[in-house]
Amino acid sequence: MAGTEEQVWNRNELMHRIVSHKLLAPAAHDMMVDAPLIARKRKAGQFVIVRMRELSERIPLTIAGGDPIAGTIRLIYQEAGKSTMEMGLMKEGEFLSDVVGPLGKPTHIEKFGTVVCMGGGIGTGEILPVAQACALAGNRVISIVGARTKELLIVLDDVRETSAELLISTDDGSFGFHGFVTNLLQQLVDRGEKLDKVFAVGPVPMMRAACNMTRKYSIPTEVSLNPIMVDGTGMCGACRVTVGGRTQFVCVDGPDFDGHQVDFDELTKRLQAYRTLEKEAIEYWEKHRCLLEESHS
Ligand code: NAD
Ligand code: FES
Repeated sequence: MAGTEEQVWNRNELMHRIVSHKLLAPAAHDMMVDAPLIARKRKAGQFVIVRMRELSERIPLTIAGGDPIAGTIRLIYQEAGKSTMEMGLMKEGEFLSDVVGPLGKPTHIEKFGTVVCMGGGIGTGEILPVAQACALAGNRVISIVGARTKELLIVLDDVRETSAELLISTDDGSFGFHGFVTNLLQQLVDRGEKLDKVFAVGPVPMMRAACNMTRKYSIPTEVSLNPIMVDGTGMCGACRVTVGGRTQFVCVDGPDFDGHQVDFDELTKRLQAYRTLEKEAIEYWEKHRCLLEESHS
């Protein structure tokens, strides 16, 4: 039904302008987006669901930061599939069709004492707001950040600024400690640090390894899970995980969970369920990439 002139909104006013869009590392992007209501409400650990266009795939992305006065939120994301690869082509000044959030429960932050914030790869962007909130709550924050190689390390200055100590690793030894973030966590334990809490965000094998380690020392450990999501509101069941033997929906019950209770085997299987389709979508995208590049130029 056609509306009156007053009811006909300028489409762009309802959409979310990309204020800045930078490459942090190969395939890792840092996007600031106009989303004033979300910027005012969001808390560490929460996420948004983004669609580039009305019929685009829905992409869940953790909110890495924001400015409530400027009305912007920060999204740090990795090109992991067709949709995020296409989003990587978007330019400053373009509009995202919709950004829904803040979704999920905020990370539970209190004065724990000494807190380790671990970020693996692109997960470093997600651990940053948690480290900032922990520092604000009066904790002594030790951050551990790792990537496969030096070029893939991101937001180090931001993490350093909020941490009493920052430890860095690379898998290939090109920067910092030669090894995994979990080796650095072990070093903290070995040097006699009393760790009151660990937050870990990154690839599933990293979070699982971190939990296996902290379980031995009874260090409470929170992980942020990123299963496949569709609606983000607890309706579709796509994000189902098992935690402590109970079914939980990550979008409404999480994304943070007690890592010692997470069924990582099931999570790994569910994440692999659509691998063939995802591969086909990437192949299609690669074939048609030049057309999409033109539409964003
Ligand atoms: P990556 O595979 O390059 O790993 C990053 C770091 O994690 C490594 O440098 C290493 O220090 C550590 N790590 C990896 N495997 C480990 C293991 N088996 N044991 C101990 N430490 C290990 O990471 P990436 O390519 O940047 O990450 C991509 C993955 O992270 C994707 O699968 C993505 O879905 C996931 N991710 C998760 C979240 C979340 O909320 N949990 C957020 C963003 C991305
Ligand atoms: Fe549908 Fe969580 S994404 S229930």
